[in-house]
Amino acid sequence: MIPPASMSPTLRLLRSADADALVGLLPDLGYPASADQLVRRLAALREWPDQEAFIAEVDGRLVGLCHVQGVRMLISDGYAEIQALVVSAACQGQGIGRRLLEHACAWAAGRGYDRVRLRSNVLREGAHAFYEHLGFDKSKASYAFERALRI
Ligand SMILES: CC(C)(COP(=O)(O)OP(=O)(O)OC[C@H]1O[C@@H](n2cnc3c(N)ncnc32)[C@H](O)[C@@H]1OP(=O)(O)O)[C@@H](O)C(=O)NCCC(=O)NCCS
Repeated sequence: MIPPASMSPTLRLLRSADADALVGLLPDLGYPASADQLVRRLAALREWPDQEAFIAEVDGRLVGLCHVQGVRMLISDGYAEIQALVVSAACQGQGIGRRLLEHACAWAAGRGYDRVRLRSNVLREGAHAFYEHLGFDKSKASYAFERALRI
């Protein structure tokens, strides 16, 4: 059921017990994962202090996720980077993405970062319009290079 537009979500920290519900949300971001994978990744994240993963709930249902992480650098003062932001397809357009993004920015400011960045696939035009509407400027276009390691 789609919550009415006036319904305000509650934000709280992501917990391992949310893994099953998160499995249903992540395909809306294009990153499906199993509950086991999510529990393992969340345990690894807990070892890393400079990050926060939090969710939006409406009537006890998980309807959104945001993960923000600090990036410390030598060549600049660093920044906070949003690693994931998604609102369930049924609940988009009701202000939940804005709430999550503003919370991430407040977290970053509270940690002393003076800017928030994110990467967004060039194909996500709707998300780009959302970010620009909320004060983000398109800064640089670059390729991501990666090499798989045998471990
Ligand atoms: C992008 C996403 C997080 C936005 O969340 P949302 O809850 O739908 O957005 P909101 O309802 O909070 O919108 C906030 C504001 O942005 C505007 N907005 C949202 N989408 C927009 C769009 N495609 N074009 C222009 N403005 C847009 C809204 O009109 C609203 O404006 P207002 O607050 O001034 O009235 C959500 O659509 C989503 O999860 N998309 C799929 C996953 C994804 O692409 N994530 C981003 C990966 S980089």
